[in-house]
Amino acid sequence: MSYYKIKDLENYFKMYKKSVREPRKFWDKIADENFIWYQQWDKVFEFNMEEAQFKWFVNAKLNITKNCIDRHLNKRGDKTAIIFEPNNPDEEAQHITYNELYEKVAKMANVLKEQGIKKGDRVCIYLPMIPELAIAVLACARIGAVHSVIFAGFSASAVATRINDSECKMVITSDGGYRGNKVIDLKSIVDESLFNCSCVEKVLVVKRTGGNVIMKEGRDIWLQPLLDEALGNHVAEIMDAEDPLFILYTSGSTGKPKGMVHTTAGYMVSTAYTFKNVFSYEEDDVYWCTADIGWITGHSYILYGPLLNGATTVIFEGIPSYPDHSRFWEVIEKHKVNQFYTAPTAIRALAKESVEYIQRFQFKSLKVIGSVGEPINEEAWHWYNDHVGGKRCPLVDTWWQTETGGIMISPIPFVTPTKPTYASLPLPGIQPVLMDELRNEIEGNQVTGSLCIKFPWPSMARTIWGDHQRYKDTYFTAFPGKYFTGDGALRDEVGYYRITGRVDDVIIVSGHNLGTAPIEDNINEHPAVAESAIVGFPHDVKGNALYGFIILKESGENRDKENLTREINQLISEQIGPIAKLDKIQFVKGLPKTRSGKIMRRILRKIAEGDFANFGDTSTLLNPECVEEIKNGRIE
Ligand code: WTA
Repeated sequence: MSYYKIKDLENYFKMYKKSVREPRKFWDKIADENFIWYQQWDKVFEFNMEEAQFKWFVNAKLNITKNCIDRHLNKRGDKTAIIFEPNNPDEEAQHITYNELYEKVAKMANVLKEQGIKKGDRVCIYLPMIPELAIAVLACARIGAVHSVIFAGFSASAVATRINDSECKMVITSDGGYRGNKVIDLKSIVDESLFNCSCVEKVLVVKRTGGNVIMKEGRDIWLQPLLDEALGNHVAEIMDAEDPLFILYTSGSTGKPKGMVHTTAGYMVSTAYTFKNVFSYEEDDVYWCTADIGWITGHSYILYGPLLNGATTVIFEGIPSYPDHSRFWEVIEKHKVNQFYTAPTAIRALAKESVEYIQRFQFKSLKVIGSVGEPINEEAWHWYNDHVGGKRCPLVDTWWQTETGGIMISPIPFVTPTKPTYASLPLPGIQPVLMDELRNEIEGNQVTGSLCIKFPWPSMARTIWGDHQRYKDTYFTAFPGKYFTGDGALRDEVGYYRITGRVDDVIIVSGHNLGTAPIEDNINEHPAVAESAIVGFPHDVKGNALYGFIILKESGENRDKENLTREINQLISEQIGPIAKLDKIQFVKGLPKTRSGKIMRRILRKIAEGDFANFGDTSTLLNPECVEEIKNGRIE
C-alpha cells in the first residue's frame, strides 16, 4: 500500500491515524519510498519541545536537487519543468525541460564555486520572478550554500538588515525587473544596501531590462559571460539531513525580522508529500502558483514541492492587472493550467473588476484551485469557487506559515468535502490543538482558541538564524511543550478548522505579514514624531490595511499635516518597502495607556474599525480622556 498518495476519505482517516499513532513508521515509509538518498537515516526523528530542538532523518545524507532534477532525467528529461510567462504578454513564454534545467543549474553551481562560494556560505538572492531566480536557488542547494531569497519589493535598508543578519557573502541580482508597466531598478537598490554591508564580496548581475547600472570593479560581475564559460554538469554536494537549506525572513511582532532556518531532508519530504496531495498533482498536469519565490509559498510550492514531484510549474513575472484584469485568466488558458494557487487579496481585487474580464473564459483545463496567505472571506471564497472553479474544481484553502515550511491544514481535492472559509482538516502527520487562556487544551468541537501544534513535523523551521533563544521564546514558551502559531482558530461541529486571524501584533496586509513594532520604530525616527501606534482595520481588497495614530513633538505640531503624512509614508517605504505604507494617519494628542504604560491597542483597533460600542473595560486606563479625542478625529 502506498503511503504517499491519499485516495479517498476513508484512506485519509486511516493515514491520519497511522501518522499519529506510528509517526516513525509513517514518515519512514514516505521518505524511503519516494526519494533518493546517499545514506539512510539512523532514526526518523528525535526532539525536545521544551528546548525547541528537532532533528529529522538523523544522519541521512542527500542532496535535494538530485531529487528535484537528476532523478527525473531518465523518465522526464524532455518534459517541461518550468514554464516562464513574462510580464509582457507579447514576449514569448519559455519552456525549460528537466534536461535543460539540469544544465542551467549545473552551470550556475559551477559559477558559484568559481566565485568562491562554499558549502555553508550564505547567498542573498534579490531577483525578479525570472527563471534565473529558480536556477540560483537550486544552484545554491546543489553546492550546499544556504540561500536567503529577499522579495524584490523590499527597500535597500530592509535588504541590508537581512544581508547583515545572516552575513551573506554574495548577492545575486539583476539590472532591473518588470512589474506591470513599471521597471524596478534592483541593482541600484542593492548598491545602496551594500554601503552598509561589509560581508558581501561579490555581486552577480543578471541582465533582464538592459537598464543602466553601475558595476563596481572587483565586486560586481555580469552573470551571463560566466555561465557561457561554465561546465554543464556538476556533482552535487553531499548534505546532511539537518544541514540548513535556506533562510527566509518573516516579520515578528517585535524587533528585527526573524531569519527562519529550514533544513534539508525534512523540508524535502514534507513539501513533496503535501504538494502531491493538496494539489492532487498527476503526471501531465501544468501547475501554477502566483506567489513570488521571495515568500515561503514560492519556495515550497513554485520550486521545491513541484520539482520534487517532477511537475511542470509556471513562473509568472507579472501582476494580475497588467495589461488588464484578464491576465491571470489568459495565462491559465494559454498554458492549460490544471492547478491554480493564489491569494485572497488577488481574488478580492479581481472580483471588484467587471465580470467581463473573466466571463469569456471556460477554464476547461482547471482541476483544483487553491488559496493561501490569509483567511479567505465568504464572498471571495464564493466568487473564486463559482467564477474560476466553475463550482466543479475543489477549492483548497491551505493554512500554513513560513515557520511550518509546508501546508498544515487543508482539504484534499476529491477527498475532503470543502466548506467556505474553512481550511478543514489537518494533513497526516500534523496534530493541531486549540488552547485556552489558562494554557489548557480545549477538547471537543464547536470551540475556539489559540492554534498550537502538539507534535513535530518534518518541515518545521529549526531555529531563527543566530538567535535560538528568540525561536524558543516566540514559538515554544506561550504554551509549554507545544508550537504556538500566533493564530486563533475555531473548530466546528465536525472538527473542521477555520483560521480566524492573528492573535499577536502581526498584521497581514495583502497577504504580507507585517509586524507593528518595526513600523512604529521607523515612524518614530521622523524628527517631528514623538510616539506612534499602528493597528489593522478591515479593507475590502487588502484584507487588512494599516491605521497609524501618531503623537507629534511640540516642534512638529505646526507642520502641515498632509506633508507630514507623505513624509512618514516615504520613510516607511524607504526603510521597509511600499507594502508597509499606512492607509490612514491620524495625528493625536495622546494614546490610551494602561497604568503600566502599555498602549491599549484593543481600543485603537475598535476606533480604526469604527466600532465605538464595545471598548470593553477601560477602567485600567491612565488617560481615558484621550479616547474621546481620538474617536472624534477618526479618519473615515
Ligand atoms: C496566515 C504563508 C487563514 C496566518 C504561507 C499565518 C492564513 C500567516 C492562511 C503565515 C489561510 C496563511 N487561512 N490564514 N489559508 N494561510 N494564513 O508566514 O495568519 O507568510 O500565521 O506564510 O498567514 O504567513 P506566512
